[in-house]
Order: sequence, then structure tokens, then C-alpha cells
Amino acid sequence: MNTIATKVLQRFTESFASTPNLYYSPGRINLIGEHVDYNDGFVLPAAINKGVYYAIAPNQSNEIYFYAMDFDEQLKINIADIKRMSGWQNYVLSVVNEFTLLSNTIKGFDCVFAGDIPRGSGMSSSAAVEGGLAYALDEMLQTGLTRVEIALLCQRAEHNYPNVQCGIMDQFANMMGKKDHVLLLDCKSLEHQYFPLHLQGYKIVLLNSNVHHTLASGEYNIRRQRCEEGLGILKSKLNIQSFRDITSVQDLMAFKTLMPEKVFNCCLYVIEEIARTKKAAALLQKDNIVEFGKLMYATHEGLSQLYEVSCKELDFLVNVASKNSDVIGARLMGGGFGGCTINIVKESGVQQFIQKATIEYQQNLNITLEAYITETDNGTYKIIN
Ligand code: GLA
Repeated sequence: MNTIATKVLQRFTESFASTPNLYYSPGRINLIGEHVDYNDGFVLPAAINKGVYYAIAPNQSNEIYFYAMDFDEQLKINIADIKRMSGWQNYVLSVVNEFTLLSNTIKGFDCVFAGDIPRGSGMSSSAAVEGGLAYALDEMLQTGLTRVEIALLCQRAEHNYPNVQCGIMDQFANMMGKKDHVLLLDCKSLEHQYFPLHLQGYKIVLLNSNVHHTLASGEYNIRRQRCEEGLGILKSKLNIQSFRDITSVQDLMAFKTLMPEKVFNCCLYVIEEIARTKKAAALLQKDNIVEFGKLMYATHEGLSQLYEVSCKELDFLVNVASKNSDVIGARLMGGGFGGCTINIVKESGVQQFIQKATIEYQQNLNITLEAYITETDNGTYKIIN
């Protein structure tokens, strides 16, 4: 068993007399399709081998007990007192609250959890925290939800107490991921396909900028509002339902003067990114990883210049990657404003790339870089019971 899983289990058995179930709930990467999940676009995520481990057992009371090992913090709360709080508490309580709203069957339980997803890294530790707990509670309460229903419940949980108006990508990847595969998810219909990840001598390397600008969740909601405003204007002029119905950028240009510049730029990025992701998925199916990588750079450009969710640290790291011929694609990953870049790197050049990026990052920005070579994993699963 993984060392974190062992630690979580040990801590649980030291604290409680019951025997818990143990779960693993993964973080995610996203190859391409950024900031389009809440815009009816397509995304290409995968669940990864960094995540959150949960030990959990019912306690025959009305009390819920959480111990967050990574923070060395606990929370004991009566079911009747569940409310919005701050920090990690908000995520777990919001999941519990969703079960109450859904079926009012919540019962007391004891829970210990810990993980190895660096916070604010863009690998979606929040979806991992939500997904692991929701999956465990679904089993414990016998709610009988499907994995997709659990993902949707977790998305509602993130909207509710933490007030991040996220799309469905992270929670969907957390529940539906499949080892050695990426998911092509249609965020409008939730139809999805699995593509085997044939990296042919390449590795997926994440470079963690180790910055996380605090604006992130507020700015995230602002991007979402800009898109809604732009789409509203387009819908009033064109017979469309969503951005994907605009298949040519020319169609958007005609309405440029009707929108504030920032709204227009967001619309332009989204329309381009939806088209790019479709193209990228087709390339991946044909194992054309080199052309795929070029589209990742184009995504970064759009995220940085049009969508304005990058920052100097992420731009710096993508620039370092673009000068290295072993790196065929790089871009910021996730919500932005810090966190990781995702890079597709020739296996033989991985160590050199990491070394060089680490030195240059330290020299120019005086920040220590962290790098992870990523492996895919399955969506949330039970380890033991
Ligand atoms: C965050 C959100 C996702 C998605 C990405 C950007 O991770 O939780 O829903 O919007 O940002 O693609």
C-alpha cells in the first residue's frame, strides 16, 4: 500500500475503534481544452497517481469528525450544524450538505484524509477531496448514485460553499478517469470516449511554478461571467445555443463592436479553444503527438493574451519549454494564475529539461521549481474494506 494510504489508515485505527473503508481519489491533468468546460466545449483530462486518501467509517451518532492530516487540523460538527466555513472544511462540508439536500440520509461518521497533490497546483486537489468523500458517502449511505451523478454532486458542492462556479471537467475526470487513457469529454452532453495514451517515447511533465495568486477563484468567476455576457449578446443576434455553434471566427468578428473588449477576447479564445480541442483529439487518435503539442502552445498563447489567466511565472516556464527542442508542447494547466504548466517532453530529454528549467526559474524569479513526471490512474476507487 502507498505510504500515505498506510499513514491515513494507521491514524484512523489509532483514533477510532471501528474498521474503516479506505479510498483513493485522484487529481487530474488536462491535455487540452482549458476554460471551456463551463462553455459547452470539449476537454481532454486524465486522472493521475497523485490524489487524496480517505479512511472513513460510520459512528452511529449525529456527529461528523474529520481529521485533515496534511493540515494537522480537525473538525467535529453535529449534522444539524453543517454550514459554510473556510479552507478545507468548506469542501468536505459542502459535499455533506449536498447529500443532505439530495436525500436527507446523512449519518454520523469518522474520517481521516491526506493527500499528495500540491495545493494550488492546478491538479485539482479540490475535486479529489470532494470526489473521495462523495464516493465514500454514497457507499456508506447506499444512495446508489452513478459515478456521473457523483461528479455532478461534487460540482454542485464546489459551486455552493466554496463559491467557485467551476465546470464539470475536474469532478468528471476524478470519477471517470481510466489508467493509461485520456477522456474526451463533451461538456455539453457529458458524452465521453476514452483514448489510449500512446506517448511513444514522450512523458508528461508538470512544472509547478509554486505560486498561486490569491485572486484565482474570484477571477475564475469573472471569466465565467464575461463568457456569459458575450454569449448572451451572440445569442440575441444569431440562432445559436452555445459557443460551439460558432464555427468560424469571422462570425464572431461581426459583433466585436457590440461587446467590451475583454468580453470579446474571452469569446474569441473560447471559440478558438473549442475548435483546437476537437482538432487535437483527432491528432491524438492518429498518434500525431508532435502536431498535438503545437496546439498546446497555441492554447497557452490564448490563455495568456486573450483569456488573461496566466501570470509572469507561468509565461516564463512556457517560454523556457518553447526553447527546448525536446519539449513538443507546453501550456499552463487548470484555472491559471499560478499552479503548473503541462509539458510533453521527449523521454531522453526529461531530466535535462527539468534541470534547466529549475535553474533558470530560480535565477530569474527566485522561486524553487518542482517537477513531476505524471502517470495516469483510475477514477476514485476503494482500496480496502
Ligand atoms: C478549474 C475548474 C475546471 C475548469 C478549469 C479550467 O480547474 O475547476 O472546471 O474550468 O479550471 O479549464
